[in-house]
Formats: sequence, C-alpha cells, structure tokens
Amino acid sequence: MPLSYFQCSECGQCFEPDQVTYNCLTCGGNLDAHFSFEENPDEINQSAILESGEASIWRYAPLLAAPDPGFNNTPLHQVGLTPVYQPESLRKSLGMQELWIKDESRNPSASFKDRASALVVARAIESDIQTIIAASTGNAGAALACMAASVGKQAVIIAPRSAPPAKVAQLLTFGARVVLVDGNYDQAFDLSIEASHEFGWYNRNTGYNPFTVEGKKTAGLEIWEQVLHKRGKSAQNLTIFIPVGDGNILSGVAKGFVDLLALGWIERLPRLVGVQAEGSAAIYNAFKAGVNEITPLRAKTVADSISVDLPRDGERALKRVNQSGGYYLTVSDQEILQAIPRLGKAGLFVEPAAAAAFAGLQAALRQGLHQSDEPALVLCTGSGLKDINAAMRAVEPAPIIEPTLKQLKEALHV
Ligand SMILES: Cc1ncc(COP(=O)(O)O)c(C=O)c1O
Ligand SMILES: [Zn+2]
Repeated sequence: MPLSYFQCSECGQCFEPDQVTYNCLTCGGNLDAHFSFEENPDEINQSAILESGEASIWRYAPLLAAPDPGFNNTPLHQVGLTPVYQPESLRKSLGMQELWIKDESRNPSASFKDRASALVVARAIESDIQTIIAASTGNAGAALACMAASVGKQAVIIAPRSAPPAKVAQLLTFGARVVLVDGNYDQAFDLSIEASHEFGWYNRNTGYNPFTVEGKKTAGLEIWEQVLHKRGKSAQNLTIFIPVGDGNILSGVAKGFVDLLALGWIERLPRLVGVQAEGSAAIYNAFKAGVNEITPLRAKTVADSISVDLPRDGERALKRVNQSGGYYLTVSDQEILQAIPRLGKAGLFVEPAAAAAFAGLQAALRQGLHQSDEPALVLCTGSGLKDINAAMRAVEPAPIIEPTLKQLKEALHV
C-alpha cells in the first residue's frame, strides 16, 4: 500500500492514515494524501501501468490511496479511462491548432463523480463499512449510489429538492435511501455530517472525505497517459479547462499531476483554468481579488452541478490553479446554454456544468487569455441526459407536422 500519510492543505499538519478520517483535526482544512513513491519513485513501474490491460482507473492502482477492490465484472471496474476526442470541426471553428475533449459522460453513472465514489467505496470495502452517506446536488450521489449498488453496499443520499429529476431517478433506481431537503446543497451537506456522526455511517462528502480527491486525480493520470505521454514535447504546454463548483474536481485533477511530478514522469504542471458560472463565482472572486479567503455568496445558475454558495474545497482549488500558473474565469448562463448545441454538433451531449468548461475556453480565446496555437483540453464532466430541460432551452423546438411529404418539405425547407 503506497499511502504513507495525510497532510493538511491549510496548516500543513501531518497525520497517520489511521489517525484521521475526514478533515484536519487541528484546523478543519482538507487533507492531501502522500505516498511512499514520492520518496522512492523507483518503486513504481511505469511500463507495467502503460501496458496494463485494465481499462479503468484501477490500472493506476499502485498510485492510489485504496487497493483495487476487485468486483471486476461490475460498474466499479468500469470507471475511468474515458475517451479523449479531437473534434476537427470544433477545433477549426475555434481556429485552434490542438484541442482535446475528455468525455466523462462515459462513466457508469454518466459523470466524472464516479471516480471519487469508486475510491470511497474501495476504502469502505477495505474498512468493512456497510453504509455510506453523501450530500449531493445529484451527480456525486448518483455516482455513490451506483458504486455502492455494484458491490452490495448501502448508500444514503441527501439532495436539495431542486435536484434535476433525472439525477433523482438515478439515485432511486440504484437503490439508495434518498431524502430531498427543503433547502440547498449547503444545508444538505451539514445534515449529512450530523447524520454520519449520529449513525456511524461513512461520509463521502466532497471537500470532506480525502479519498474523493484521490479518486478524481485519476483524470489527471489519464490526461497524462492519453495526451502528454503520447504526444511528448508538443503537448507539454497543455492548458486544461475544468468546471468548478466546490473546487474538488480541479483539486483532484491537479493532485494527479502533482503525483506525476513527484514521480518524475512530467517536467512541469499543465496549466489549469477553473471555469465558474457568473452566478456562482466565489472562487473566481477570491482569485480576482488576489486573496486566499473565499467569501460565500447566494449562488444562482442554470448549471446546477456548479451552483455552490460556499465552495467546500475552494482554498485548495485556488492554490492549485496558482501553482499551475493558471487562472479562473466566469461564463454567463447564456454562454453555457449556447455551448451545449455547439458540443452537440461534435457528437457530445453534455450537461450545463460540462458545457461551462467549453464556454470557458471560448471566453479565454476571446479575451486573449488563451492563444489559438496553445494546446487545450476541455474536461466535459457530465452527460446531457442528466438535465434535458437545460438542453431543450438551448435548442429550437422541432416542428410538428402532418405526416405528408408536402409538410415535410415545408418544415425542412427542401
Ligand atoms: C458534471 C459536474 N461538473 C462539474 C462539477 C464541479 O465539481 P466541483 O464541485 O468539485 O468543483 C460537478 C460537481 O457536482 C459536476 O457534477
Ligand atoms: Zn490543518
């Protein structure tokens, strides 16, 4: 097991792995996992990973904080190794030289969040814990419910009653015990922590359980394998556009690269760009003001997955962007909605939060923050099937006609 200790991302205090379960015992900051391979990179065999036949996050087991849990023929072993596309039409229309899109809708529950839930469930298996609770705007819960169902564990999900129906349908179908609170995500978050203390359930919350970031780092490892390692020097100045709510996805992707740097497998960190919705921009505001402290706000955006009053991993996500030489920017709801059919025309169906990342690339090109000859990767974090109402707002409705050739000609103008 390569996990050696946890270190607080705020105050720097270190803890033995069995000394702490969630946040820093001193200041409440989020914990970073540290590994024996940081001291001794030779203990990891890169070729064995690259030549592994395992088509999931578990190909990186030697770099992960929990061991491969088995359950090979279940969704738990189908998480990750999602495709990276190079859509020519999109690249040309942006005038870019190199563009990759990583499609996270291909995960078992159709979002990026399966990566975190897979690690948390692997940890629960290792620790023989039966019930896992999470607060979620929908995707994290759906991911936990799916992973727990794969291995016969019980998920308890607390979500705001405003969660999109498709996500609630997933939760219920996967057999989770679901409660919808008459309140927002932040209130669901606090309630889930109270419940885990009261009932002894393991808590998966984002920005609370250190194994979530450790699961999410697998996306960074894959970007290394699929883009950086494959393309060599030409992709070394890669910029990655990531949608940000709590900031945990960004912190996770960054952690993947931090581990790769420690191993000596990359020479420098790719630049990370955090994209927030204008109406949910707490981390962007701190970045812009040049301060470390994040002030909560009243979030409102069409992109429900990145609608967050108080980002639970904001400070770390701010640090990680600065460490990478990147930046934060915001996009409007209109830009987010317009990006949905734009990606659709490249064959991708994404939910608004994922569209926000692409809208972020467009905004960065427009504002001169990103040059068209710099390679970019957009992380498309969730499927459009998660929120079809948003997609329908972004397209013209289909005409309804009598089933005659005449009316068909009129409707299609042919
Ligand atoms: C599809 C999707 N994109 C982006 C995010 C934002 O991730 P984070 O809250 O970790 O910043 C989420 C989180 O729920 C999500 O579900
Ligand atoms: Zn601390």
